[in-house]
Amino acid sequence: MVGFFDSGLGGLVALKEFFSNSCAHVVYFGDLKNQPYGEKTPQEIFNLSRKAVDFLLEKGVREVFIVCNTVSANALDDLRATFGIPIHGITDWLRYYTPPSKRVYVIGTPATIRSGLYQKALGAEGIETPELALLIEEGHWEDETVREYLQRVLPRGEYVLVLGCTHYPVLEPLIREIRPEVETVDPARILFENVRINDGRRKVDVFLTAENPLYPDFLKRLGLWDYVGGIDVLR
Ligand code: DGL
Repeated sequence: MVGFFDSGLGGLVALKEFFSNSCAHVVYFGDLKNQPYGEKTPQEIFNLSRKAVDFLLEKGVREVFIVCNTVSANALDDLRATFGIPIHGITDWLRYYTPPSKRVYVIGTPATIRSGLYQKALGAEGIETPELALLIEEGHWEDETVREYLQRVLPRGEYVLVLGCTHYPVLEPLIREIRPEVETVDPARILFENVRINDGRRKVDVFLTAENPLYPDFLKRLGLWDYVGGIDVLR
């Protein structure tokens, strides 16, 4: 079994890419109670992530994918040093990506942008989008609310836009519509094209630390519903 961890929906968006290339029984931990992670300090992010990985280990997983940019950018080394199992970070996608010659922007949570990871690795300019992950958790994927938000934060012109938060790929159709000249990059797509697992059939058991009644609908919209073994809200 493989563990997946994010503060919420973003990891499921990434799971879709994983299941496009891989087969495995996934235990999914979404820490809805503590989101947004992007507003927390690196120490707080590490403390919460350690608990999440502990939970996944208790469930019997043998490796973990941290499918959260905020956690990967701020706590991956410490998590790897803490646990004796393979821990993959969503930011590992950078190993498989050649930085383009075009201008690069990255949108992400404040904690991801402030970590400086993407600026250093890609020479990118960071844009903090603090409200975006929660808007997506509330179901704003392609409506006026996110359209206005993106119109306001996205520069004009031709450039590469790294979707530096696993929640954001659900906005790709909208971004293509309002900024057709921009080339979007989804780290999960690149990572899971390159890191594949073939271990039984596709299945996901979803564990959430708080209730969000929209999740069944989200799982259907992401095309994951047929793989769901159950959705448990942890008390
Ligand atoms: N999905 C997370 C990421 O990739 C962030 C969401 C949050 O701020 O909790 O950074």
